[in-house]
Amino acid sequence: MDKKAELHPVLVNLSRLLQQVERVVVLTGAGISHESGIPTFRGPGGLWRNFRPEDLATPQAFARDPHLVWEWYDWRRGLISRAEPHAGHRALVRLEEMVPEFTLITQNVDGLHARAGSRRVLEVHGSIWEVRCTACGLVREDRRVPLPLLPRCQACGGLLRPNVVWFGESLDSGVLEAVHLALKQAQVMLVVGTSAVVQPAASFALWARQSGAKLAEINPDPTPLTSVCDFVLPGKAGEVLPLLVEALAEEA
Ligand code: OAD
Repeated sequence: MDKKAELHPVLVNLSRLLQQVERVVVLTGAGISHESGIPTFRGPGGLWRNFRPEDLATPQAFARDPHLVWEWYDWRRGLISRAEPHAGHRALVRLEEMVPEFTLITQNVDGLHARAGSRRVLEVHGSIWEVRCTACGLVREDRRVPLPLLPRCQACGGLLRPNVVWFGESLDSGVLEAVHLALKQAQVMLVVGTSAVVQPAASFALWARQSGAKLAEINPDPTPLTSVCDFVLPGKAGEVLPLLVEALAEEA
């Protein structure tokens, strides 16, 4: 059976609901970038030189060995610079056009949603294309690939770090406030391509559910959220999201 036929009843029910609501939130994780050629953090191919992300994406790891951490980010920047958004990213652009109030929350730092054309994107873990000076705090865009390792601040000569959120660090308070508001008001939330194990993003769907949102999950594998979802669409983002948008267009 093909994917469309397999998911038909869920696609119809979810698209009917989407047709009726005003406020939709989508949360994405590394899984949506997988089909663009960017490895996920957990699962096959997710490890870089046998390091877990929890061993590299921390202030302690950077203080201990900034060269190693920058090598990892430089490798990922190289992969991302060659990657293109796919049909799943583009389906979310169409969904934004079809829904009155739409917020896309992403844990991804690759910028692929914006490149695809999504407009209201909250990047809760920051951007891999920004650097921040560890001495003077200056943040600026830096798209050089490869980077000189170790990169230095143009203003003060201090050591630069990626302007991303690491384990043990807080999310930007302004971004978090916007996330809270969107989750509180959401009527439907789609959770796409996240293992839902890294906090606080792993709890976002539960917060939305507490405020009354219906949850839908798109992921080839089950996650800790699967059992609380109202709609489960097992499959790849690049395959399932276009089918969902097609079903929604048929409902309109
Ligand atoms: P993970 O690598 O933990 O999980 C990726 C998820 O995507 C898994 O549940 C896969 O089953 C799913 N997946 C794989 N291929 C897919 C596809 N084609 N379509 C849809 N889903 C697919 O990634 P995240 O949950 O995003 O944070 O990880 C959360 C955070 O952990 C990241 O933002 C990063 C990392 O450490 C920091 O660096 C702070």
